[in-house]
Amino acid sequence: MSKSEKFWDKSAEKYSKSAIADEISYQRKLQETQSLLSEEMNVLEFGCGTGTTALHHASHVKHIDAIDISENMLTIGREKAKQAGVDNIRFKRCTLTELDAQPASYDVVLGLSILHLLPDRLETLNQVVHFLKPGGIFVSSTACLGDSFIRHMKLVAPIAKLLGLMPDFYVVKEQDLLSEISGTGLRVDQNWHHGGTVKVAFIVASKQG
Ligand SMILES: C[S@@+](CC[C@H](N)C(=O)[O-])C[C@H]1O[C@@H](n2cnc3c(N)ncnc32)[C@H](O)[C@@H]1O
Repeated sequence: MSKSEKFWDKSAEKYSKSAIADEISYQRKLQETQSLLSEEMNVLEFGCGTGTTALHHASHVKHIDAIDISENMLTIGREKAKQAGVDNIRFKRCTLTELDAQPASYDVVLGLSILHLLPDRLETLNQVVHFLKPGGIFVSSTACLGDSFIRHMKLVAPIAKLLGLMPDFYVVKEQDLLSEISGTGLRVDQNWHHGGTVKVAFIVASKQG
């Protein structure tokens, strides 16, 4: 089991009970995403956590594949879906690299609070493009620590990571992320950000063709 998997497995219960940091921005993201969804769509969410967002979108689409490396996160997600009577989300333990799906098979890919946690962001973005249908849409929300007030975090992060109090994370700037997304051939259609201490960039991009 990887260090990251261990961290998220251990955090799952607490994560599922924690309040959404910025409810107004979260609702705006849900609404803007739902304006892009329709009933015949197949959606992939990678790093789905306990499925909160997938559950919000489930009634707007045909099917959601919700994947994550943490089995404990997925167990909570499956239970929440069962409680809500939602049966069109398949929760699966895997990474994008391990995902057994046809190329160009999803209308929408969601990557929410995940890109800054991955060491191989460019490879991940290329995989997103690989799994998107032509005309498909990538919706992302990413903590941009490169644009944030992280002076203190820089000092404590190595210790906190060592103690297992923080996951591995990577410092990204919004402008760099936009360039990386454009660099894969996706067209950035929408971009705004929120957050005080940590800037969070919401980016919607589409695959041309
Ligand atoms: C900060 S949480 C975000 C969860 C959810 N997307 C949300 O917005 O609430 C990050 C999630 O990504 C998962 N994760 C970390 N690395 C991953 C990887 N390589 N592939 C898939 N999921 C991963 C973690 O297990 C965790 O559930």
